[in-house]
Amino acid sequence: MLFKHVSPPQDALRKAMSAAYLLDEAQCIKQYLAQLKQSEQQQLRISKRAYGLVTAIRNQQANLDSLNAFLQEYDLSTQEGVVLLCIAEALLRIPDAATADALIRDKLSKAHWDDHLGHSQSLLVNAGTWGLLLTGRLVQLDKQARQQPLSILQKLLTRVSEPVLRTALREAMRLMGYQFVMGKTIEDALTRSRQGDNRLYRYSFDMLGEAALSAADAEHYFTLYMQAIKHVAVQTDETSSVYVKPGVSIKLSALHPRFELFQAERVLHELVPRVLLLAQAAADANIGLTIDSEEADRLDLTLDVFQQVYGDLSLSHWKGLGLAVQAYQKRAPLVIDWLAQLAQQQQRSIMVRLVKGAYWDTEIKRAQEQGLAGYPVFTRKQHTDISYLWCAKKLIAYGSECFYPQFASHNAQTLAAVIEYAGERVPFETQRLHGMGEALYEELVQHHIGANTVACRVYAPVGQHKDLLPYLVRRLLENGANTSFINRVSNAKAPIAEVIADPIVQAAKSDHSAHPAIPLPAQLYHGERLNSAGYNLGDEKTLRQLASDMEEYGHTQWYAHSLLASASAGQNENGETSQRIVSPANQDDIVGYAETMVAHDMQNAILQMMRAAQQALRIWQGLPATERSRFLLSVADLLQQHAVEFIGGVFSVSRFV
Ligand code: FAD
Ligand code: 2OP
Repeated sequence: MLFKHVSPPQDALRKAMSAAYLLDEAQCIKQYLAQLKQSEQQQLRISKRAYGLVTAIRNQQANLDSLNAFLQEYDLSTQEGVVLLCIAEALLRIPDAATADALIRDKLSKAHWDDHLGHSQSLLVNAGTWGLLLTGRLVQLDKQARQQPLSILQKLLTRVSEPVLRTALREAMRLMGYQFVMGKTIEDALTRSRQGDNRLYRYSFDMLGEAALSAADAEHYFTLYMQAIKHVAVQTDETSSVYVKPGVSIKLSALHPRFELFQAERVLHELVPRVLLLAQAAADANIGLTIDSEEADRLDLTLDVFQQVYGDLSLSHWKGLGLAVQAYQKRAPLVIDWLAQLAQQQQRSIMVRLVKGAYWDTEIKRAQEQGLAGYPVFTRKQHTDISYLWCAKKLIAYGSECFYPQFASHNAQTLAAVIEYAGERVPFETQRLHGMGEALYEELVQHHIGANTVACRVYAPVGQHKDLLPYLVRRLLENGANTSFINRVSNAKAPIAEVIADPIVQAAKSDHSAHPAIPLPAQLYHGERLNSAGYNLGDEKTLRQLASDMEEYGHTQWYAHSLLASASAGQNENGETSQRIVSPANQDDIVGYAETMVAHDMQNAILQMMRAAQQALRIWQGLPATERSRFLLSVADLLQQHAVEFIGGVFSVSRFV
């Protein structure tokens, strides 16, 4: 059968997860709130702790995260700021300082300006991309800026001097590289992690790189991960516990070029052994290995890989395998229940890094583009916060037999609540990203919270600038979003009470519905017309349904012939009268046959078609716009109604069996 490797979930929790993929937002939040009861004293304690943390952060304005300081200095809410960012990003790709300097000089030198205007625009193609990425976040580039980013620089130069601009560019570059990357090599990063206050933190090193495009890419990232594990292994103190030692974080999309549910059978066959080798190397050194979470449509497959690696007998003595769980996904609480079930079956705890999720914009856009029935993530920030708290409570309630919880957040309110829930009940740690949340964690880690200080691990990206871009974009979106805690706390005008508002208390005043500015994918055009419906290829239920609907068409052998031909072109070299059409993906797969035409028929057909087209054009031109649109819409409806037939025709069954 088509997608035969996508088997139905074997246990009730995986079934429930599948059902919750695009669940109604209000239904989820009501369910979480019903169980997330907080006493008034608890609320007060959380609020007091969060207030203290924010006050401390604001008192440290001088030590403000350097990126935020940069954002304030060279206002990135302007077009000029975005253009600066573009050049800085281009500079990130230049390996040596001399060429980088030459580029800056070239771009900023008025003498060369006009000569280069034509072709050097290509260097700034990213202006449009950055503008798009940051739309509604930092700045919307106007038409002129999109088309002629250099002219913005020219204007800038009339306002500030060349040396100032050069300094800004250098600063932007330095920050983008240094701010978010711990070191270019794992050796550098390990050395830096032992300097000064860095020693107060635990580390999880992340070798930059994701979404391998080829087997060679995947091999390259595998080697990098393995080297990182080996380096960390020899540098750690053998007697420490796995919870204290540095570890390594990996992304499964870096380890396989087709890491998608569609390819489940191949992925499980090829990827599990690779991850297992990494896990065995980490287990030998008793250090942690955490699997990052990526796009929502990779979740099912991630869980399958996790389950197989975790269940391998060679790892039965090791408690260092970890998984990141994204609270913005509607399936998150069920993922935690499922992981707990796994831990109970194997009687071995799992490290769970609870995050809110770094791909929010992508998830929303993708669901709209694919015309899904709903969103896999929440549409209100407050709802993600509530989900995070509910997941945190669950992790804590399952206890240390099941989990070592790792609460990753830069939000003082979230952390204050989690610390309150965890109390002395379970060992846990907090986590921050390298280059973010420094002031907050300085307060948390270095000053006493109750009787204990809070342990914190830093997620530390390591690598070359060429691999930085996707990670960097996620960080810039996070820093730039006006809903994000990091952004709000650095805006001194935002009242502290608002910055630390308790999402549970706030939610009591709302009906928990989805954000009105983010309509369901089908309603994207606000009633003007329906968006086309698509298929959620990350959902096993959808894949299996599609497969069974397509069975009928998959076996069909198509026969194409001209309605006008009087004779066929005769036999081909195999003695067949019509031409065999095979799938480009599988030459053994015969899609069908096509009758070829003789030249005379072809001429006739073209003439008749031209006449028919001319006639149709006259009719079309005579139709009012409303009639034309009715026709177009009915064609769209027909395409949608017959979608399975079309897909089935193209993807015949034999290609997948
Ligand atoms: P907050 O400002 O409180 O929350 C911001 C988050 O809220 C956004 O990132 C988004 O998730 C959510 N959000 C924003 N707007 C909306 C909206 N309109 N509706 C619903 N939700 C919204 N992320 C991953 O995806 N995978 C990982 O493996 C991963 N690993 C991480 C490891 C560490 C150590 C850390 C610190 C972070 C990691 N992240 C990962 C990134 C993480 O998801 C973001 O840093 C985090 O979401 C920011 O949350 P916050 O509590 O710090 O900030
Ligand atoms: C990311 O790569 C930190 O895993 C998270 O954005």
